[in-house]
Amino acid sequence: MNKAKRPVVIAGNWKMNNTPAKTKALISELVPMVKDKNGCDIVLCVPFVDIDAAVKASEGSNIKIGAQNVHFAPSGAYTGEVSAEMLKECGVEYVIIGHSERRTYFGETDATVNLRLKAALSAGLKVILCVGEVKDERVNGITDEIVAMQTKLDLLGVSADDMKNVIIAYEPVWAIGTGLTATPEQADETCGVIRKTIAGLYGNDIAESTVIQYGGSMNAKNAAELLAKVNVDGGLIGGASLKAADFTVIVDAAQ
Ligand code: 13P
Repeated sequence: MNKAKRPVVIAGNWKMNNTPAKTKALISELVPMVKDKNGCDIVLCVPFVDIDAAVKASEGSNIKIGAQNVHFAPSGAYTGEVSAEMLKECGVEYVIIGHSERRTYFGETDATVNLRLKAALSAGLKVILCVGEVKDERVNGITDEIVAMQTKLDLLGVSADDMKNVIIAYEPVWAIGTGLTATPEQADETCGVIRKTIAGLYGNDIAESTVIQYGGSMNAKNAAELLAKVNVDGGLIGGASLKAADFTVIVDAAQ
């Protein structure tokens, strides 16, 4: 399969931004701006408390709603956590798992990422799994090993059939929220390493049909160049997803 046959997925990761009222306003602004852009899938991953407002504001549009995390247990004594079933019932279709901010600030490990991922898939959610190296790892030339290892550990026990609901986001940690961006060549090369790792686990057909996004200061200016790369099938966008105009330019670049 060539790149043209893979869907392109442009996903916003709002992180801890926007109240329900602001969610309604921003999505209402965005809906008419992206309504005819059918060349890519459009997803907004919003804070838990904004899900209801996001689902209502995006109803009938081509914008899908995602969450930013999910717990691995179906229910129980896990104060502060949210289950996959709860997300589904609220109209969520996607969930980000293993974002580096969760790994860095909230003790997320490959083992818990793997559990969350399997719980989300079992509940019928689509997963955006984040992997990526820190600056020291890139400087020391071990980026390929790090992303391959994360990919393998995070996907342990995930069936070939479930891979159709897994998107992988390559997010170099040093490029997140820093204004630094991987060069298109670096993004392409490391997304290619992830694709090769998936081929090793599941075979070429699944590797060729898996959507691999780039994330890390993707913005209105650099999106077209990054998205043109053969192994880059979309973007996971933080800061630039908070402005309707900037996000729309990125969606346009993906057409
Ligand atoms: P920025 O686009 O703000 O660098 O964030 C990237 C990111 O972490 C998306 O998940």
